[in-house]
Amino acid sequence: MINKVGVIGAGQMGNGIAHVMAVAGIDVVLKDVSNEQLEKGLKVIETNLQRQVGRGKLTEEEMASALTRINPTITDDLMSDVDLVVEAATENEEIKKVILADICVKLKPETIIATNTSSISVTRLAAVTDRPDQFMGMHFMNPVPVMQLVELIRGIATNEETFEKVKQLTTRLNKTPTPAEDFPAFIVNRILLPMINEAVYTLYEGVGSVRAIDTAMRLGANHPMGPLQLADFIGLDVCLAIMQVLYEGLADTKYRPCPLLVKYVEAGWLGQKSGRGFYDYT
Ligand code: CAA
Repeated sequence: MINKVGVIGAGQMGNGIAHVMAVAGIDVVLKDVSNEQLEKGLKVIETNLQRQVGRGKLTEEEMASALTRINPTITDDLMSDVDLVVEAATENEEIKKVILADICVKLKPETIIATNTSSISVTRLAAVTDRPDQFMGMHFMNPVPVMQLVELIRGIATNEETFEKVKQLTTRLNKTPTPAEDFPAFIVNRILLPMINEAVYTLYEGVGSVRAIDTAMRLGANHPMGPLQLADFIGLDVCLAIMQVLYEGLADTKYRPCPLLVKYVEAGWLGQKSGRGFYDYT
């Protein structure tokens, strides 16, 4: 039974993962590199919990007890007795490998490690740890408190007990687990990101304006958000990182990141989080 979870990274995905774990009655150790990052993440959790209270999805008491279950930290000391670690750091293979190699030696032997990577090989990440058999992908969708799906990805060495435990936990979070094989970007992002990249090409080639493209897909294909708005929401740096994994991993020019996407990221226009992307958020 998984009763205590360590979450590495208090950013967009990490704070959402901590939020849903705490609401499900699980104790959470939320780790990031600075107190400032932790405070930011905790503020987002509080706002999102409050939103759920406002909509009658949670009571004030449930919100208060969820908040007391989240223990923020910048050290690894509190990780020594967690049953599961979910790594939700930046979508960068080298950074993830350093974090994973470092944390695994601080855990009890039976602790499972899951990565929330949205595209990188689970097998390659597992290989830097001391427990590839107790390692797998647990890929949440953004916004985590709202989205129903969690993709579960086995690395080549993942054992069945690990997979089953994480699957049961996903159900306890009131989410739907879906298995995906360890191929670049798994299922959701293999399909979603080429669509977003194509939307950026559509803008780049002047087929439509930002608003026209988003309106077309919202009203013409019934998507809850247009693809460019969604790209801003995910983060243009994350979108580019996923396209690069697809392009390199599948060696097919159909995954070539749109030069306009590259340019926006180079400019620091990363979407909602930086105040500017395809839309202006200032
Ligand atoms: N935390 C908690 N609740 C939230 C929330 C958050 N961050 N954001 C929205 N909500 C809740 C609202 O309170 C509301 O709840 P009720 O149904 O109880 O009323 C509900 O979600 C709908 O929200 P809103 O009415 O404010 O706005 P909306 O109807 O426009 O929905 C949305 C917002 C859910 C984000 C919707 O626009 C949507 O589904 N967008 C697409 C999201 C998507 O595609 N995500 C996947 C991205 S890909 C990914 O994550 C994978 C990856 O690795 C990159």
